[in-house]
Amino acid sequence: MRLERPSLKWEKEHIAYMREWDDGRLKPSSFFLNEGVPYEVYLEELAVKEAGQGERVPNSNYFLVDDDDRIIGMVNIRHSLNDYLRQVDGHIGASIRPSERRKGHATYLLSEALNITDRLGIRFVLVTCNEDNIGSAAVILNNGGVEDESFTEPHGNVIRRFWIERG
Ligand SMILES: CC(C)(COP(=O)(O)OP(=O)(O)OC[C@H]1O[C@@H](n2cnc3c(N)ncnc32)[C@H](O)[C@@H]1OP(=O)(O)O)[C@@H](O)C(=O)NCCC(=O)NCCS
Repeated sequence: MRLERPSLKWEKEHIAYMREWDDGRLKPSSFFLNEGVPYEVYLEELAVKEAGQGERVPNSNYFLVDDDDRIIGMVNIRHSLNDYLRQVDGHIGASIRPSERRKGHATYLLSEALNITDRLGIRFVLVTCNEDNIGSAAVILNNGGVEDESFTEPHGNVIRRFWIERG
């Protein structure tokens, strides 16, 4: 299992992952593919977004790939927090494809993402989840998350917020 940066090589696999998705809009949203947009254009737009744009802070995207070159998960790592990220989305957003869930992959993916935030010099990593996302909360706790105050969005959705302190 390894992390790979999005590139043309992963187009077919990325589309297959998106087709398997059954959970509303693909998460993290940086991996959402708009119909009819060539993959090259998606990659160019992703590079622009990764550099940071307006309210969007610099961020990095990786696929979690298995030994058969199948995409198992996706992760988006924000390099800093703005007001919205501090309340709602945190530093790291991740997903695992539906057919590969409940096998420990998200726990592993978050641990790999934390190695990347270490390299970025982030000592306190904020990871969040919706109150009803029991799986995501377990993944965060598995990686040493300590719960802080929740945040309630204007429409009533409750966000649980956890800090992971790194060496
Ligand atoms: C949340 C998600 C990332 C979990 O991925 P996963 O690979 O199944 O997680 P893991 O296998 O590492 O599971 C970690 C723990 O959570 C538990 N768990 C996972 N999904 C669960 C669920 N739906 N209900 C209850 N427990 C769950 C596992 O049993 C495991 O428990 P353990 O550590 O005590 O054994 C995955 O369900 C997903 O991609 N969901 C949609 C996107 C999403 O919600 N992303 C997170 C917010 S951005």
